[in-house]
Amino acid sequence: MDKINILRHLAIIMDGNGRWAKIRGKVRTEGHKVGAETVRDITTYCAKQETIETLTLYAFSTENWKRPKMEVNFLMRLLDNYLRNELSTYMELDTRFETIGDLSPFSNSLKQTISETKELTKNNKSLVQVLALNYGSRDEIVRAANRVIAKDQELTEESLTASLDSSYGDIDLIVRTSGEQRLSNFLLWQLSYSEIFFTDTLWPDFTASELEEIIENFQQRNRKYGGI
Ligand code: IPE
Ligand code: IPE
Ligand code: MG
Repeated sequence: MDKINILRHLAIIMDGNGRWAKIRGKVRTEGHKVGAETVRDITTYCAKQETIETLTLYAFSTENWKRPKMEVNFLMRLLDNYLRNELSTYMELDTRFETIGDLSPFSNSLKQTISETKELTKNNKSLVQVLALNYGSRDEIVRAANRVIAKDQELTEESLTASLDSSYGDIDLIVRTSGEQRLSNFLLWQLSYSEIFFTDTLWPDFTASELEEIIENFQQRNRKYGGI
């Protein structure tokens, strides 16, 4: 049998909440609410997989501030409530919570919830769930380059990588839901050799069993890294 690829780091662009709501005649925020439940289901699945070490989820981009203020405020409240309500889930799943992105524009109370959740889950070992919050890959790379300069280091692939927001390494597999086939400024540096999977399923409808099928597909792919 050919050897199968091992999935250690999975990234997901969780897209399609608004369309999910629209086709049901609901307001967009209803889609975000159900989408948060999908986050819990998918995190639960990943925490139980032996090989998966890191799950990075795109929750709010540097471009998402362009949305109506009411939707942005709703997403901030939803995040705060999610972290408070799911603390017991993080503990049960032995999952550590981390973030990438520039948290500085967030309210003090949201920043506090984020740092408390990180602190309370920091010793959990089964999975790291990384939420990308006010995240943009170009922004991250520029901030990383500035850190290298501030440390007076030579700019190399290694020094830049080490100065990124995350030390979680390269992505093995990236999945985008909702049928859009683009990266939308997500993890451009870390995706260099990741396998890509697009599904038409809208994020609120996405399930662990669909993810399992996608992972089976990933395991069979021929990852060549430029070799033969
Ligand atoms: C993804 O769903 C969630 C966020 C970007 C916060 P969207 O809100 O982008 O849903 P669509 O793409 O409008 O359907
Ligand atoms: C990407 O989705 C950002 C997140 C999933 C958080 P968008 O819905 O914002 O991306 P575009 O605008 O379709 O590229
Ligand atoms: Mg979208």
